[in-house]
Amino acid sequence: MKRSTSGAGDGRAARPTAHELARYEGLFAARTRGMKSSAMREMMALTERPDVISLAGGLPDTSTFAPELYAKLMSRVAAESTARALQYGPTEGMESTVECIVEVMAAEGTMIDPGEVIVTTGGQQVIDLVCKTLIDPGDVIVAEAPTYPGAVPTFSAYQAEVEQIEMDGDGMPIDALESVLDRLQAEGRRPKFIYTIPNFHNPGGVTMSLARRRRLVEVARERELLVLEDNPYGLLRYEGEPLPTLYSLDAEAVGRGGASDLVIYLGTFSKILSPGLRLGWAVAPRAVLEKLNLGKQGADLCSSPMTQLFVAAYFSDRDWRVYLETLKSLYRRRRDVMLEALEEHFGGRASWTRPEGGLFIWATLDGNVDTTDLLARSEGVAFVPGRAAYADGRSGSSSMRLNFAGVAEDDIRAGVRRIGEALGGQAGLFGALSGSSGGPARGADASPEPEQQGTEPGLADVLQLPLRHDDGESRRRRDR
Ligand SMILES: Cc1ncc(COP(=O)(O)O)c(C=O)c1O
Repeated sequence: MKRSTSGAGDGRAARPTAHELARYEGLFAARTRGMKSSAMREMMALTERPDVISLAGGLPDTSTFAPELYAKLMSRVAAESTARALQYGPTEGMESTVECIVEVMAAEGTMIDPGEVIVTTGGQQVIDLVCKTLIDPGDVIVAEAPTYPGAVPTFSAYQAEVEQIEMDGDGMPIDALESVLDRLQAEGRRPKFIYTIPNFHNPGGVTMSLARRRRLVEVARERELLVLEDNPYGLLRYEGEPLPTLYSLDAEAVGRGGASDLVIYLGTFSKILSPGLRLGWAVAPRAVLEKLNLGKQGADLCSSPMTQLFVAAYFSDRDWRVYLETLKSLYRRRRDVMLEALEEHFGGRASWTRPEGGLFIWATLDGNVDTTDLLARSEGVAFVPGRAAYADGRSGSSSMRLNFAGVAEDDIRAGVRRIGEALGGQAGLFGALSGSSGGPARGADASPEPEQQGTEPGLADVLQLPLRHDDGESRRRRDR
């Protein structure tokens, strides 16, 4: 069949036409109807374009890893373990890699039993396997609002219903969680798990306080609920005191040096070493671990022995914490540059988080500005519109996720400036079309949200108008 190259400018990324989709319609499983494209996948295409400054991806800066070291480690794997590197490995992961995982977790103060680890193809696979193991169509997952944009398509692929709880500066408020749990209980529904990113939230940029961590574990124990603790960023702390993982707090509650029996922990080498390795892990109660293992057998049999051996070689070659320190000082500087740029270009028109670590800042624009449309208007710069972090695809429309870690300082400044310029233009357009003064900022006493304006079109509707008539690129971006 001839492949269409329309719509993406690159044959590899071409989208099927409506006609092509219709031809196969009767074959697709019901679950595919709810499947959404990950905002991040869309953004990966943009990040490959040299003319675009991407503040969108969840990218660490891999250019900081010395090529000579990469070559040395690969040579070592070749010299010592070619046959094993090229062979299938155990589904649960190689022993030498699990030893590295135990070491990484100990660095966060979390002691684990190597027998309760499964090595996965990135942390992303943990989310997929947990859903595969626990979720039947219509089951409930409780998550933060916003939540990790990469988890949203996974949740929808498994036809979960997602209850999202709005965070504040200390993460998920546990009293709000309890209210949701009470309501669900009254409806006869028990969530399959609570999904949380306690450290330097992606995309929220906030960290769950110690008091809330303790209370969350108590609530999980009182109600016998599983928690999926997604923690890719815990070791990327730029200031403040490290906080214990939910896993370790729950293990403490179990007592007698035991393991947590309600927390499934997700870790990854992606942010402390490299996402190209595609290696993450889960630590889970044995019964859950067994099911994850069965699910993984059906997915990919095992994670790459080649990259597992690379990790083991890296950990035995040197102290992995040294590179982590390099990353931390680089990212800390970039975070500060982005905070300054936001002050300069968004000041008075938005609010944003000030993360103590991680990769992301979450900015929320004043007024009715829709960031999906703003993205279409922001020339040569990409960010993740807030809607991608909500399962309903509608909430979070005036927020955006900005990555500071994978971007050079000058590009951070230029990128934020360009978004600020587009923001000025967009607010001006709204003013012209709606007859309002068109000032960029909406103060506390300004007009209500579009939903509250009766039959008046909201700004999001107004801005569905084609904004540029150039090469159709803005439209394509909006359609993605
Ligand atoms: C919160 C969160 N969970 C999971 C992942 C998946 O990471 P990976 O599959 O690269 O380990 C990411 C990646 O950005 C993330 O931010």
